[in-house]
Amino acid sequence: MAIVEAKGIKRSFRSGDEELTVLSGIDLRINPGDFVAVTGESGTGKSTLLHIIGLLDRPTEGELLLDGRGCLSLSDEKTAQLRNRFIGFVFQFHHLLPEFTSLENVMLPCLVAGKTFEDAKSRAISLLDKFEIESRAYHFPNQLSGGEQQRVALARALANSPQFLIADEPTGNLDERHSHEIEELLCRMNKEENLTILLATHDIKLAERAKRVYLLTGGMLSAIKSEGKVE
Ligand SMILES: Nc1ncnc2c1ncn2[C@@H]1O[C@H](COP(=O)(O)OP(=O)(O)OP(=O)(O)O)[C@@H](O)[C@H]1O
Ligand SMILES: [Mg+2]
Repeated sequence: MAIVEAKGIKRSFRSGDEELTVLSGIDLRINPGDFVAVTGESGTGKSTLLHIIGLLDRPTEGELLLDGRGCLSLSDEKTAQLRNRFIGFVFQFHHLLPEFTSLENVMLPCLVAGKTFEDAKSRAISLLDKFEIESRAYHFPNQLSGGEQQRVALARALANSPQFLIADEPTGNLDERHSHEIEELLCRMNKEENLTILLATHDIKLAERAKRVYLLTGGMLSAIKSEGKVE
């Protein structure tokens, strides 16, 4: 069963009399354990596509199945439930809550999902440990480096063990060394835990780590690498 099956996804934005078509018929299938990168110039619609696949936005036309379930006709409540259970998100800016420690930021999604405090804490500690930031568990986001903040954000995205991670420019705000740390963690999670990843990035080095790479241009995707082969 595919994790994502997107068919004929179109998305236009209207402003006044003008209509801007950003996605003009995207087909994309992502299987369990895939690592797919979408690259392309700024403004070509990478975030728009990730938001639609991540159920944060709806397409103007098209069909979207997640884990085999059609999800465009679900109620807002069911959409939010599916999103929270099934998908983890990481963005360019970490969006950690400034008044909470790293540990609390990672615990929060578990608590929202109904885990006990002790279970949430042990899950959060094990993720911080895995990402080698356990020594920063009691620091606040503004006391962390950019790379550490992004590792905490990744731990938070994975707190409820989603099968599917959507990462929109996760290294866009980091220097080369910190980008490399995030790159390594994403690859490790994909290989060791079979985490399915959909990534948007300008960073060609990061995109090349994916198993499949697509270029988004003119509202369409074209494959530039599939399973290790550059096309
Ligand atoms: N809510 C919106 N209303 C109107 N236009 C929008 C909206 N969201 C995105 N757009 C437009 O859609 C186009 C694609 O934007 P998007 O953010 O998806 O690009 P991107 O490829 O992610 O760019 P970047 O690499 O800079 O992050 C842009 O021209 C943007 O202005
Ligand atoms: Mg973007």
